Amino acid sequence: MLQEQQRQLSNTSLPDITAHGDAACPTLSNGRRALVELDPDHPGFRDLAYRARRDEIAEIALHYEPGAPVPDAPYTDEEHQLWRTVRDALAPRHESHACAEYLTCVRQINLSREHIPQLREVSEKVRAFSGFRLEPVGGLVAPRVFLESLANGVFLSTQYIRHHSTPLYTPEPDVVHELLGHAVLLASEPVAELNRLVGEAVRRTTSDEALERLARVYWFTIEFGIVREAGEVKAYGAGLVSSAGELEAMRRAELRPLDLEAASRQEFDTTDYQPVLFCADSFESMFENLRDYLLRWP
Ligand SMILES: [Fe+2]
Repeated sequence: MLQEQQRQLSNTSLPDITAHGDAACPTLSNGRRALVELDPDHPGFRDLAYRARRDEIAEIALHYEPGAPVPDAPYTDEEHQLWRTVRDALAPRHESHACAEYLTCVRQINLSREHIPQLREVSEKVRAFSGFRLEPVGGLVAPRVFLESLANGVFLSTQYIRHHSTPLYTPEPDVVHELLGHAVLLASEPVAELNRLVGEAVRRTTSDEALERLARVYWFTIEFGIVREAGEVKAYGAGLVSSAGELEAMRRAELRPLDLEAASRQEFDTTDYQPVLFCADSFESMFENLRDYLLRWP
């Protein structure tokens, strides 16, 4: 595998904000995408069994009734092994690169190393800590649909896992990113509150330009946020803590002081490591800064 291919892209449940409204990607009446489409360069494009399983898992989201327990996804033994491979690659990097709040949540949520946890069980655990719950989606959803659901304490989560041929790479958010990134962090009451406030701010937002700015704030905090702890840079962003490659690249990024107004105007590329990150002086100062910003929005 090429070094470049081992990079887990900056996957996020916040999609490329220009990539939607594609007529070839039907959406449900509630905005949740119905069909799985893989690009020809997707690692699983030629694997018919994988594509069939992706469709089967997408069907779960298609027929899901909000609030009901999430039906279990039909993972294979090979996919459970893939989960172990990714978890084992991430665990030591979490100890060195993840912030204390994340490490506390990891212990509290205590996700299985052996098997891919089902959304149903993780959702129950997260809900017990912060009231947030996970609901399934078949793939990327429109930014407003994804972000507004946060106001209801609902995190729209993909359920499939990346293709086994590229354990440390996925061109799209998968269950590794959702669970080891977002779900773990949503056990944190401060992080859950910030997610809710993002959703409420989006609800108050009418213009596309303002929605894009909020989406960038989300990107540079909830997805790719970092803080200082005892003089070291530590990650709390879901896109960082769910990717070994991103955690390594974090050390080479240009660090700027957390300035949410600047972050709201900072362009980003979802297909490469993040070259610019916004760093708060502490987790607590990040929380207060972002909370105040969102409460004052617009
Ligand atoms: Fe994400």
